[in-house]
Amino acid sequence: MKILGIESSCDDTSVALLDCSKSGCFIVSEKTASQIDIHKKYGGVVPEVAGRLHAEKITPLIEEILKNKSKPDAIAVTSGPGLITGLIVGVEAARTLSYALKIPTIDVNHIEGHIHSVEIKNQKSKIKNTIKYPALALIASGGHTELILIKKQGHYKILGATKDDAAGECFDKIAQLLGLPYPGGPQISKLALDGDAKAIKFPRPMLDQNNYDFSFAGLKTSALYYFQKNPKVNTNNFCASVEQAIVDVLIGKTIKAATQYNPKTIILAGGVAANKKLRTILNEQIKIKIPHSNFLIPDGKYCMDNAAMIAVAGYYKAAKKKYTDWRQIKADPNWELGS
Ligand code: KG4
Ligand code: ZN
Repeated sequence: MKILGIESSCDDTSVALLDCSKSGCFIVSEKTASQIDIHKKYGGVVPEVAGRLHAEKITPLIEEILKNKSKPDAIAVTSGPGLITGLIVGVEAARTLSYALKIPTIDVNHIEGHIHSVEIKNQKSKIKNTIKYPALALIASGGHTELILIKKQGHYKILGATKDDAAGECFDKIAQLLGLPYPGGPQISKLALDGDAKAIKFPRPMLDQNNYDFSFAGLKTSALYYFQKNPKVNTNNFCASVEQAIVDVLIGKTIKAATQYNPKTIILAGGVAANKKLRTILNEQIKIKIPHSNFLIPDGKYCMDNAAMIAVAGYYKAAKKKYTDWRQIKADPNWELGS
């Protein structure tokens, strides 16, 4: 079954064609137009600008991906959560194609896409990851920080989420404070490589609380006050200490949830999953504390928003014939997974 994936919920316009069967979903072709260079000038994503750029790119990308290919069997599109200005562009493109080509549409939750990003199969690298259930997923990106229990495919329970800023947002805002370009996560982790992570004791918000929620706004404020008082701080030490605080909280909560729920698979995905320290330490901790659990992370490039992950998540719905009529599919910026 050929699935066309469409993703436009934030600052990447992405289209991918995947060939899916019971043995997995393989990429036939994919293309992503990143808007980062434009949003960089403003220090973050500007919704109106994002919407306009998605609208410019979506049709040429679809045309390029489908060129010389037979008609796909279904279209999987991100319909939420995300920026409404971006979501409506992807959803309207999917609706139009569905009507014109007479093929069904599948609405996909962006977070469900990130979860299935660990299963994207690439002919060259022959990735063979498969999620076994029950699974536990930590999705950490610029817009989300969520711990999700997945009892079986498609059955989600949010165990906890951020009360304020997302982990990626915290990286981005602290980077902005230092005058580093957007997105800040890769910049901070690069500078952190030459720093001492124990140099500054930043708080580990909510780590000791008996729940699976997160809060990163306090850490951001604490970093701001420290920087105002110590403007000549060693930037490498500052970045390493910030990164360590964020990583400690994400890992502490994930290990606690894994110990309670005993999942067969633990998934780390979303933009922040590109962070090497987070990937390495979480892997080590899982090996020590939940050794029977299989740890899955996406290939680096699939941590970021992409349409291939939307097509994989869409395939599971298509296999169950969970289509949504093009007349009914609607962008929902606040779509909560499991609702
Ligand atoms: O999933 P994504 O591409 O878009 C959203 O849905 O938000 O994630 C982007 C986020 C940004 O906040 C970025 O700073 C963060 O992921 N990020 C990182 C790293 N690479 C990207 N954060 C920490 N370390 C990294 N290496
Ligand atoms: Zn995302």
